[in-house]
Amino acid sequence: MIVVSDTAALEEHLSALRDRASRVAFVPTMGNLHEGHLALVHQARAAADVVVVSIFVNPMQFAAHEDLDTYPRTLDDDLSALRKAGVDLVLTPSTDDIYPDGSAQHTAIHVPELGDALCGKDRPGHFDGVCTVVYKLFQLVEPDIAVFGEKDLQQLLIIKKMVADLSLPIDIQSGPTQRAGDGLALSSRNQYLSASARALAPLLWQTLQSCGAALMATPAHQPASIIDPAKAELERAGFEVDYLELREISTLQRVDNMDQDCALFVAARLGETRLIDNIQLAARR
Ligand code: PAJ
Repeated sequence: MIVVSDTAALEEHLSALRDRASRVAFVPTMGNLHEGHLALVHQARAAADVVVVSIFVNPMQFAAHEDLDTYPRTLDDDLSALRKAGVDLVLTPSTDDIYPDGSAQHTAIHVPELGDALCGKDRPGHFDGVCTVVYKLFQLVEPDIAVFGEKDLQQLLIIKKMVADLSLPIDIQSGPTQRAGDGLALSSRNQYLSASARALAPLLWQTLQSCGAALMATPAHQPASIIDPAKAELERAGFEVDYLELREISTLQRVDNMDQDCALFVAARLGETRLIDNIQLAARR
C-alpha cells in the first residue's frame, strides 16, 4: 500500500497504478476509521481495480466553534486497517497542500437548496467546505467511482448534485449505514459521548424506525401527527433536537404525505456531541 502526503507525487504513483483498463474507486474520509468507513472501502474494492482512500480533516467544513482541533486523529491505526482491507493508495495531504492561502480565502462550491436545508441550515458553510474539498480531491485522484455513506444522506445527495452540475465523469455510489449492535450509527463522534449519553443514543435509531413504521402504516396522516410527539419524546429523554423532519429523498423538499420516496432525517445533541441519522422510506405505489 502506497501512502502519499505530497500531492505533487500523487500523480506519479497513480499513473503507475492505473493502466489503460483499470478503474479507480475512491473513498474520501477524515480518518479515525471504523466499520462504516471500511464497508465503503470493501465496496470500492469490489467495484474497481485500484482503490484510493484519502484521510484529511478538512478545516473548511468546520465552523470556528466546532471540533476541528479535537477531531480524533488515529493515522497509524487507520493505515493498518486500510492495509488489511487491500487499499492500493492512501492520500494524506497537508492542510497547506489543499489550502495554500488558508481555507477562508479559498473559492467555495455551493450547492443551493440541498446544501441550505437541514444540516446546512444548522451549520452554515458546512456543505460548501465539504463540496470544495471533495471537488479538489476528485481533481487530484481522478477516480472513475467514488463511494459515500448513506449515514450522511444529505452529503451524498449534495455530492451527486455537484457532480451532475459540474459534469464530472465520476460514478457516485453509496453504501448503507453501518450500526453498532444496539442500532447507533457508527460515527467518529460517538467516542465523545459519556457513558450515560452512549446508553441513551440508540433511542435516535429506535425513534426513526418507529416513526418510519407509523408513517408507512398510515400514509394519509399528516406526518406532523407522528413526528411532533416523537420529537418531544426525544427532548424529554435528554436530547436537544435540531431537527426531525420528513423530506422527499432527492430534492429534500418538505412533504406532507407518503406519495413519494422520502427520508426521515434527525440531528440531535447529547451534551456537546451532535449525532445525525436517517431512515429511507419508500413511497406506497
Ligand atoms: P467522514 O465522516 O470520515 O466519513 C467518510 C465517509 O464514511 C462518508 O461517505 C460517510 O458518509 C461514511 N460513513 C461514516 N459513518 C458511516 C457509517 N456508520 N456507515 C456507513 N458509512 C459511513 O464525511 C466525511 O468524512 C467528510 O465530510 C468528507 C466527505 C471526507 C469530506 O471531508
